Amino acid sequence: MHAIVSLISGRGSNLEAIVKTATAKSWDVQFAGVISNNPEAKGLEVARSQGISTQVVNHRDFVSREAFDHALMSEIDRLGADLIVLAGFMRILTPAFIKHYEGRMINIHPSLLPLYPGLHTHQRALDGGDQKHGATVHFVSAEVDQGSIICQGEVPILPNDDASSLAARVLKMEHYIYPLAVEWFINQRLQIEGNTVHVHPPESQYISFA
Ligand code: GAR
Repeated sequence: MHAIVSLISGRGSNLEAIVKTATAKSWDVQFAGVISNNPEAKGLEVARSQGISTQVVNHRDFVSREAFDHALMSEIDRLGADLIVLAGFMRILTPAFIKHYEGRMINIHPSLLPLYPGLHTHQRALDGGDQKHGATVHFVSAEVDQGSIICQGEVPILPNDDASSLAARVLKMEHYIYPLAVEWFINQRLQIEGNTVHVHPPESQYISFA
């Protein structure tokens, strides 16, 4: 059985989508814990309502990024996680932390990477005059919002979109592709070859509802 620990900073809607899919599809997983760096994160309540134990490791309590990451790592390892799911976790992680979880830590980012790493992705896609936008699930590597791509979900940009209407459309897609990627991982269907992730047996890794 896989033990999943999720790291969050905010709302927790991706976490909720994953947990609900796990229940609906009877995945052979245990959600060992949810850890937030932000004591006010709404996602902590989401986790508790799903019967998952929660804790706060507040980055403000630590003198350095290294000290924070060290505390986080101790907690994750104490929980026995073999998959770490970053679900709206908004802290940059140190290379030592990333190395420790290489190949077993995944993240979702609200853009079609390599486009728009970083923040304000929806506004940047609008400002760029793009016709499409989306989200990416990827293994975490030392470069922020890079790393091997597991899957991507595309949505159209409509003429009257603003950042919030576009974010809502992308978020729906996130709630589809993140559970999909986790399911592939726990069913051992992912194989990393260089910077490419293959799914076995093959299945589309680029999703578009259009
Ligand atoms: C999601 O849109 C996720 O893609 C984004 O934060 C949001 C979290 O929402 N993550 C990043 O920007 C990471 N670089 P949620 O807390 O409701 O899942």
